[in-house]
Amino acid sequence: MNKIKIALLGLGNVGKGVWEIFKNNTDEIIRRSASELEISKILVKDVNKDRGIDVPKEILTENIDDILNDDSIQIIVELMGGVDPASDYVVRAIKNKKHVVTANKQMIATQGKELLDLAKKEGVLLYYEGSVAGGIPILKGIEESLTANKIEEIVGIINGTTNYILTKMSLENMDFETALKEAQEKGYAEADPTSDIESYDAVYKLAILTSLSFGINVNVNDIYREGISKITSHDIQNAKEFGYTIKLLAIAKEKNDSLELRVHPTMIPLTHPLSNVNDSFNAILIKGNAVGDLMFYGRGAGSLPTGSAVAGDIISIVRNDMTLRSIALADNPDLQKRVLSREEFTSRYYLRLKVKDVSGVLGQISNILGKNDVSISSFIQKGQKDENNLVSIVFITHDTLEGNIMKSIEELKTLDVVDKIKNLIRVEKFI
Ligand code: HSE
Repeated sequence: MNKIKIALLGLGNVGKGVWEIFKNNTDEIIRRSASELEISKILVKDVNKDRGIDVPKEILTENIDDILNDDSIQIIVELMGGVDPASDYVVRAIKNKKHVVTANKQMIATQGKELLDLAKKEGVLLYYEGSVAGGIPILKGIEESLTANKIEEIVGIINGTTNYILTKMSLENMDFETALKEAQEKGYAEADPTSDIESYDAVYKLAILTSLSFGINVNVNDIYREGISKITSHDIQNAKEFGYTIKLLAIAKEKNDSLELRVHPTMIPLTHPLSNVNDSFNAILIKGNAVGDLMFYGRGAGSLPTGSAVAGDIISIVRNDMTLRSIALADNPDLQKRVLSREEFTSRYYLRLKVKDVSGVLGQISNILGKNDVSISSFIQKGQKDENNLVSIVFITHDTLEGNIMKSIEELKTLDVVDKIKNLIRVEKFI
């Protein structure tokens, strides 16, 4: 039987998952790859660290050259995360004619095109299913099963940590810090939780999804990004009263050859299936012009789910070795699509303000909104006035351009009766 040696770069959460899957599913892996796959070396920072897993010490190494210069190793599995030194190791592996599997969303989102071009030139494969939405087979889903479609829209919950936090805040009235700590203990969060909380993680994933679905290379800096740290219990409570819940959504919509790309907390109707995607689960809605609406749901983070995607990629490489066909990112250099600026987004908006409780306030506010072509759909005044004679008021608008909202906010800030604009949250109505 064909014998293939594999090396892992990194033995953290996902690396351990891959090791477990190879150990527990040996028969399935042999049958489906028609090969004996052996993890023969693993790069770690400290060979003496106790990892709570029965990996033989003699296959651990602290020296990348032990792996890159070993001609018997055919597949490198990069699970270190971050760009430096991961991308250097991947480039060297490709140049040494080794196939590569990675779950590194930052590296693929920022350098994926160059790495794929290099892999093609060197005659090796590069697979990265685990980089987006953990165990959900979304990249192969788009690239293979949906390949005959023109993708029109993607709306996803693609960060498990923030979904866990928002779920706990919403359903258990937990505070932000406690929920984040729990997410970290469960191994969902990145080493630095800023990447999850401030939505960089979701932006990288959306860039990869956009590239695959719309055929263009996206600069991650062109994707509008907001994190969840400004969401308060007031907003969560108000959302419930309006019939919504708050989720961190990654959105890509094609509009007349332009793309609207944004990641931000969003109010979605409690009746929509995405509102029931809770805890660390991910879900991605895709609208294709032939298939219609599809929803992918599953675990987007964690050792075994992401390990499942990575191990699947290893088997895909063994099967596809002869075809030399990786999952292609943007592959049409002539295709240009403009990424819309924030002012050009269209949405409904939730606006929470602290205002003086005096006569004529609503008139002044609605005057500014009306002048900027912002039409109000719902309004509530919240609670009693505080010791400074201030009250909270909340509006939800009809669809409008974000530029109109931004102009309105600037003008509202100048009103003597407006103490503070407390929050602005987009509302997705899904039609
Ligand atoms: N930190 C990520 C998440 C893990 O919470 O979804 C996988 O990218």
